[in-house]
Amino acid sequence: MSRVALVTGGSRGIGAAISAALKNAGYKVAANYAGNDEAAAAFTKETGIPTYKWNVADYEASKAGIAKVEADLGPIEVVVANAGITRDAPFHKMSPEQWQQVIDTNLTGVFNTVHPVWPGMRERKFGRVIVISSVNGQKGQFAQVNYAATKAGDIGIVRSLAQEGARAGITANAVCPGYIATEMVMAVPEKVRESIIAQIPAGRLGEPEEIARCVAFLASDDAQFINGSTISANGAQFFG
Ligand code: CAA
Repeated sequence: MSRVALVTGGSRGIGAAISAALKNAGYKVAANYAGNDEAAAAFTKETGIPTYKWNVADYEASKAGIAKVEADLGPIEVVVANAGITRDAPFHKMSPEQWQQVIDTNLTGVFNTVHPVWPGMRERKFGRVIVISSVNGQKGQFAQVNYAATKAGDIGIVRSLAQEGARAGITANAVCPGYIATEMVMAVPEKVRESIIAQIPAGRLGEPEEIARCVAFLASDDAQFINGSTISANGAQFFG
């Protein structure tokens, strides 16, 4: 029987590519989204993947949404915490609201997504937790104190979960995408984006599918001994 996978933020950007890659690999996929009904409907029409609306920043909403997915499709064995936002501003201009929104969605959102599925994974002695971090969690980024804090936090989360889950057959890993051609990166002012691309040795942005393939590998049975790790897919945008 095919496994059930949940992808948060799974109807757009990198998340949409992950949802599609997991479906192609034979999983029953549920794609969560927060607000863009039109994009979610178009995504379902194109891929046949059902979408479920809730805000990952809200614990009770996450719990209820996950219960609905499990009632519809079965127990979630692969969870991909991908939903994320940016509220970029230089630190001296960053408001407490910009800080809190990013923490609530990107970091607390990971807790809210994984916590409800964790007991079932422990009982069934199998689970895959994959968190989408970022190169900017590894190196920091101008105007992203909030975002970089959450993405660095993701690495601490998976290293800790890995230690707790290892004997229960659960792995927890992070993927750190570099700059990928999505709406999020396209929202960066063009001049800034050009200067960023100039710093990528590959000389280009990544494609969402290049991240999705990393996730599909980490989700597979073959990846059982990879636990607490980070896969960087960034076109060699390394940092010193
Ligand atoms: N390094 C050094 N200096 C920088 C800089 C950088 N990367 N980016 C901007 N600056 C400088 C500018 O040159 C400017 O300097 P001057 O004042 O001397 O001219 C100053 O910082 C900008 O000041 P502003 O008051 O104009 O800034 P602003 O309030 O208008 O904010 C910004 C502009 C939000 C910083 C904008 O430049 C921006 O969005 N930058 C991109 C940040 C970024 O890379 N975000 C990543 C988004 S994609 C993502 O997050 C996905 C992922 O995981 C990779």
